[in-house]
Amino acid sequence: MGKTEWFKEMSFYQIWTRSFADGNGDGIGDLYGVYDRLEYVKALGVDGIWFSPLYPSPNADYGYDISDYKNIHPDFGTLEQFRNVLDKAHRLGLKVLMDLVVNHTSDEHFWFQESRKSRDNPYSDYYIWRDKPNNWDSLFEGRAWEYEPMRKQYYLHIFSKKQPDLNMDNPKVREEVKDIMRFWLDMGVDGFREDVINFISKREGLPDGLPFVPMANGIIHYKDGPHIHEYMAEFRKVARKYHAVQIGEGPMTTVRSAMHYLTGKEKSLDMMISFDHMLADCFMTEYLQRPFSLKRYKSALTRWQKTLDGKAWNVLYLENHDHPRIISRYGSERYWKKSGKALAVSYLFLQGTPFIYQGQEIGMMNIRLSSIEKYKDIASKTNFARLLTREPEEKRLRRVHASSRDSARTPMQWDDSRYAGFTSGTPWFFVNPNYKTVNAAAEERDPDSILQFYRRCLSLRKHSRTLLFGRYHEFFPKHPKIYMYERVLEDNAYLIICSFSDKPIQIQLPKKYQNRKLQLMLCNESGQDGTSPVMSPYEARVYRTKISP
Ligand code: GLC
Ligand code: CA
Repeated sequence: MGKTEWFKEMSFYQIWTRSFADGNGDGIGDLYGVYDRLEYVKALGVDGIWFSPLYPSPNADYGYDISDYKNIHPDFGTLEQFRNVLDKAHRLGLKVLMDLVVNHTSDEHFWFQESRKSRDNPYSDYYIWRDKPNNWDSLFEGRAWEYEPMRKQYYLHIFSKKQPDLNMDNPKVREEVKDIMRFWLDMGVDGFREDVINFISKREGLPDGLPFVPMANGIIHYKDGPHIHEYMAEFRKVARKYHAVQIGEGPMTTVRSAMHYLTGKEKSLDMMISFDHMLADCFMTEYLQRPFSLKRYKSALTRWQKTLDGKAWNVLYLENHDHPRIISRYGSERYWKKSGKALAVSYLFLQGTPFIYQGQEIGMMNIRLSSIEKYKDIASKTNFARLLTREPEEKRLRRVHASSRDSARTPMQWDDSRYAGFTSGTPWFFVNPNYKTVNAAAEERDPDSILQFYRRCLSLRKHSRTLLFGRYHEFFPKHPKIYMYERVLEDNAYLIICSFSDKPIQIQLPKKYQNRKLQLMLCNESGQDGTSPVMSPYEARVYRTKISP
């Protein structure tokens, strides 16, 4: 394993700082709160942290609209406090990844403030300006073009109006990106999660997109664009010098296009965050729902596992700051504890590097707010206003309940005291009313909790070469309720079985596992010794055995 492949044996915890822990009582999570909770993160058994953006931002998109790349948002603390967190994390043996958001900046960034003034200033070509807009929609609000009266031109924004797209074709912009990378790497961070990185190169001439695709109509001209691999190679060079890890986020990426980033001469990323397995209950976005299909979930996972095996490395995740809570989606709130654990088993033993999003490990669930005004997420507001507008408002609000990114952004539930122990002040956003029962302190006390189960899963995985590096094979891919897969390395095998049924269900073992001594390593059903052919609702089992290779 090369020096830069240290991430393969690791797992990461994602912190969305604003809602993690408030250290100074102003109602907003911050780096003082993070500092005090690093032991909690470490005790989960992870090896690193990915921080969603910590930089100054007007928060049009909660940190993904950056107004200064080399500083810390005053809500979160200071650069000095960030260094304290970084040092403490390193002392605890935790790596730290920053979010690198360079497809766009905030419109309040100095570069944009200058660029918008005239057509001939030093920053005039930092963004994408046109006299006449094309037909592209933005993914977050209305058309992708906004008129700037000072300059008498339109600028491109694939996301919100307050997120103008950078002009990556300008070599000066690429130098800025590299400079930002070096700034954080010199400070000691261990790598980056690179936001919507497959969008940074736009097709020359910015041709019109497909008129019949709402919101994503321009995507064929900005996803995996013509110069993407050249630009990525430049960034890669910087990262390699520091042995830093690079994880790309590739919205709407296919596994085939991901392989271009992950392998071969063009290899520019260590891992790519995929979205396929997040579409098992929706089309394109969680707002456009369909019933959860286990087959869709399984086939997406299997496709990535098979294609990457031996050639590249997966990111494993079920939640992050962009998705509603997984128990509310793929599991069952009624079988909260068991389905929370089954979901953990379904993905933590795949090949790749697992990510766990704050609150996932204690089984946090979706919040349902009574009106769209109460939501903060710009994507939820836009979807509500623009998609399926013929539906009655209540129906669209239900779609928001099931899809909003805000469900991942409610304050972390630490205990059952006021505001879930997140803050001593008034929280910036609603706490999920279920915090009296769903909270970290209760999970800590209960030996059988979701939290303890996550710890066991992570520890099992970490100590097994087979679970880390073994080959993946799926059994019964057509089964609508059972996900069954093995991991095999030489003569060691693990067999993983998860039921996604809310009724007991009879299972059959694959031939090669019949009449073998199977050792039950993990199970979420108390009293289960692993011999019963019937799986209870949302039961999950992890067996170990020896096989002939
Ligand atoms: C990524 C981020 C998301 C953000 C978008 C635009 O998908 O994860 O939170 O809204 O990029 O920056
Ligand atoms: Ca605070």
